[in-house]
Amino acid sequence: MKLKSHPFEVFSFVVIVVLLCNSDALFKFKNIKCTCYEKSFCEVKRCELKVLGRGIIGLFLYAQANQLPISTATCVLTLYRRFNGYRPFLYNITVDVCYFLKNQNRYPFFGLVYEGINNFSNINHTCPYNHDIIVDRMVLDDKMIAKVPVPSGFYKLKFYLRTDGVSRGEVEVQVEVNLGYDR
Ligand SMILES: *[C@@H]1O[C@H](CO)[C@@H](O)[C@H](O)[C@H]1NC(C)=O
Ligand SMILES: *[C@@H]1O[C@H](CO)[C@@H](O)[C@H](O)[C@H]1NC(C)=O
Ligand SMILES: *[C@@H]1O[C@H](CO)[C@@H](O)[C@H](O)[C@H]1NC(C)=O
Repeated sequence: MKLKSHPFEVFSFVVIVVLLCNSDALFKFKNIKCTCYEKSFCEVKRCELKVLGRGIIGLFLYAQANQLPISTATCVLTLYRRFNGYRPFLYNITVDVCYFLKNQNRYPFFGLVYEGINNFSNINHTCPYNHDIIVDRMVLDDKMIAKVPVPSGFYKLKFYLRTDGVSRGEVEVQVEVNLGYDR
């Protein structure tokens, strides 16, 4: 368990136990939105969810980088949960991306999210970045939800990116978590 001394640790154990007893668990992409604020810095060439197979949804993102290299970056990652509209929920963390890539255990929640993207993206190396940012055919694995200590519901993850102190863009991904026991 990576979330050391965290109040939600107990809850995540409950989630794991429930998952083991239930095959209806569902962890699914619902929507994606990508924004580059300045064309001179980046352009969104692709930002979509596509059905890859029965019940399998893939995430595709291609952000063309127009100012390279990128050797410093700050990412604010905020989790929202839908009640009446989306409200901030549990996590709002500011991460020095280049530092994180060298010290991946420093930010446990960011680390979990990164672990989910890592295998499907060309971002999985240390700084600097000398290329466009690509996420290709990313799928969510139901097993991953066992590591994320949240109840069923609709969530939004917002990645807001800054480099050299300038706001560059944001990506919002909506996901549904359905653990199958509180419908
Ligand atoms: C999250 O944290 C950042 C940086 O501290 C702050 O600017 C932002 O307003 C916060 N967002 C929410 C939804 O609290
Ligand atoms: C990423 O790939 C590695 C090696 O193939 C695999 O062991 C790991 O489970 C994968 N992680 C995720 C989150 O898919
Ligand atoms: C990064 O991901 C690619 C697949 O997109 C994989 O081939 C490569 O081994 C990964 N590199 C690291 C350092 O995990």
